[in-house]
Amino acid sequence: MYAAARNPETVDLPGVTPVALDVTDPASVAAAAAAVSGVSILVNNAGSSTGASLLTGDLPDIRLEMDTHFFGTLAVTRAFAPQLTGHDESTVLNVLSVLSWISIPRSGAYCAAKSAEWSLTNALRLELAPEGTRVAALHVGYMDTDMTRHLNVPKSNPADIAKLAIDAIEADDTEIVADEVSSQVLGKLSAGVAGLYPQTA
Ligand SMILES: NC(=O)c1ccc[n+]([C@@H]2O[C@H](COP(=O)([O-])OP(=O)(O)OC[C@H]3O[C@@H](n4cnc5c(N)ncnc54)[C@H](OP(=O)(O)O)[C@@H]3O)[C@@H](O)[C@H]2O)c1
Repeated sequence: MYAAARNPETVDLPGVTPVALDVTDPASVAAAAAAVSGVSILVNNAGSSTGASLLTGDLPDIRLEMDTHFFGTLAVTRAFAPQLTGHDESTVLNVLSVLSWISIPRSGAYCAAKSAEWSLTNALRLELAPEGTRVAALHVGYMDTDMTRHLNVPKSNPADIAKLAIDAIEADDTEIVADEVSSQVLGKLSAGVAGLYPQTA
């Protein structure tokens, strides 16, 4: 088992091999893929949260969201695809969000990037299925991590969500809706814009 981080010295899990990886740096992605072998489950978890509004936020922040969530996930998946497809069965797990499905203005850039990552996930499902590689999406609301430390809202335990995701992968479930808020928003997708954004009516 490998754990990738921009600073691999921060990885202190027993039995895990640290790997240096900045998902926004093509050379780092290539070096990480070359440094490991035999990967059969790839988890794309890296995430940024600048809180940038699309209308008024700084453009570099908006680009960072796309670079991390969309282009980062794309680059890492492309780099690891040969290892994954070398197995009879393999899995990619993309850590998405309920905000892949619904937008909130105060984090429009994050939501747009998560939506783009969702579309990427669906395209990869189609492209990798013939190779025996399943692509799973994890949709979840607030979790209690550094990303949400400043928010005083109910949050799930990320360890519980991780276990749920791994159990789902073992059960061949590739659309992992991890909590109530994600389930509710998924249910509203079929109602279109009026269902998702009644305030705009
Ligand atoms: N927390 C939530 O409420 C929530 C809800 C739904 C979805 N998510 C998603 O869950 C995932 C994990 O987020 P989190 O809540 O654990 O956030 P977090 O506490 O801010 O952690 C983000 C992680 O991503 C890494 N990262 C950021 N940019 C990177 C880059 N360019 N290359 C490599 N690693 C990078 C960070 O590494 P460093 O240590 O190097 O900074 C950190 O380990 C993200 O995809 C996020 O969008 C989170």
